[in-house]
Amino acid sequence: IALPSLRLLYLLDELNNPLITLKSIGHQWYWSYEYSDFNNVEFDSYMMPFNKNNNFRLLDVDNRIVLPMNNQIRILVTATDVIHSWTIPSLGVKIDANPGRLNQTSFFINRPGIFFGQCSEICGANHSFMPIVIESILI
Ligand code: CUA
Repeated sequence: IALPSLRLLYLLDELNNPLITLKSIGHQWYWSYEYSDFNNVEFDSYMMPFNKNNNFRLLDVDNRIVLPMNNQIRILVTATDVIHSWTIPSLGVKIDANPGRLNQTSFFINRPGIFFGQCSEICGANHSFMPIVIESILI
């Protein structure tokens, strides 16, 4: 079991040539994002309040992440206060956001659409209310 697992871990560890890097920072209780290699765009992403007539209760955010489909994307994940976890189940991504540490992973979105995720590390009173939304677009 060890040998094929180590090979896969090695192959998955580092991405060669991502088109863009997204930095995701966990806070109590929202995410903020930085496109560090794209005009230094930075924004916060809070859950939408319930009283709006949106269909995605507890899942939608005011400012969504926008990423290009059919391209390798690198994501860097960290936190400012406690441990959070940045998770998009439909993309197969789950990575912890630790204060004082930068984690890296990558993914590839092969279709346009909206992808939802939530924080997956019990991080305090509003743990349930810091969702993640990615809009993947064709460029
Ligand atoms: Cu952030 Cu749970």
